[in-house]
Amino acid sequence: MPYQHVSVLRDEAVSMLNCAPGKIMVDCTLGGAGHSLAIVEKIMPGGALVGIDQDIKAIEKARQVLSAYSSNIHLVHDNFVNLPSVLTRLDIDAVDGILVDLGLSLYQIKFSGRGFTFAEDQPLDMRMDADTTVTAAAIVNESDPDTLERIFREYGEERWAKRIAGRIVERRRQGEIVKTGELVEIIAAAIPKAAAAKSRIHPATRVFMALRIAVNRELEVLERFLDKAIDRLAPGGRICIISFHSLEDRIVKHRFRDMAEECKCSKELPVCICTHKPKIKLVSRKPIRPSEAEVRINPMSRSAVMRIAEKMPDTV
Ligand SMILES: C[S@@+](CC[C@H](N)C(=O)[O-])C[C@H]1O[C@@H](n2cnc3c(N)ncnc32)[C@H](O)[C@@H]1O
Repeated sequence: MPYQHVSVLRDEAVSMLNCAPGKIMVDCTLGGAGHSLAIVEKIMPGGALVGIDQDIKAIEKARQVLSAYSSNIHLVHDNFVNLPSVLTRLDIDAVDGILVDLGLSLYQIKFSGRGFTFAEDQPLDMRMDADTTVTAAAIVNESDPDTLERIFREYGEERWAKRIAGRIVERRRQGEIVKTGELVEIIAAAIPKAAAAKSRIHPATRVFMALRIAVNRELEVLERFLDKAIDRLAPGGRICIISFHSLEDRIVKHRFRDMAEECKCSKELPVCICTHKPKIKLVSRKPIRPSEAEVRINPMSRSAVMRIAEKMPDTV
């Protein structure tokens, strides 16, 4: 199985991270190591890269891609929510830059056979980390209708969440739903024909995305990660987050804004009396998006949004 992925906003991320010789950088989402390779080339000589991925296949691929730099890199199979303990184990106190490129790699979608795509009939798995226990099949077959509806509505913004949840529960009476093909059929039958005809996306798109987010607890992990990551940045260090989903980007936008706030006083007070100090400053108020040229070459990049923040000097 080939490991494929085209890095999104690669040059922009590397430039925004201020990569330079001697720096210590973390790539929290190694994938095919495209970003990592570009980073590592800029931080040599003297730099170090910590690369994390929860998918062991990405670690194997990164080991090949980065083999020329093996004495300066540490590859770790873990969830990036555990960044503090990963750094502590490596005896690293603070780092100069952190990159997070959320979502799935092309390999995971097209070649992993783990049911991330509705284009093929595969087991309903959707785990990025095969060591975790909850699969998409477990959620589909064991959740009550309200939970299924909530997952489809909240994570997939699926208008027909209630109908789809109802059809799944009905279909479960005949036996477990174990393959993506069965789920696609149920979804297609649940969505009114007229609505499906008007839609520009495949009827299963939103449900599949919602299930993937639920299986990998993607939003919860991102929220828990952000504060911990900022705490491990050296003064002047930067964090760069690329997201592909409005719910992820909303979390990043709000958390960054909150941590960059200069004053926590009530709006009613005429002057600031708080001693609050912002943890970070926003490097650009507006998010960075791929150029038209990048989207033309790599259409999957079209929904990417990158936000960057810099750690303030006196808040170590
Ligand atoms: C979009 S790909 C990264 C591609 C990479 N930047 C490149 O240039 O090749 C996202 C990767 O992040 C990993 N990932 C997603 N969420 C993660 C998490 N919470 N912890 C660790 N790895 C995660 C996925 O397994 C996947 O390999």
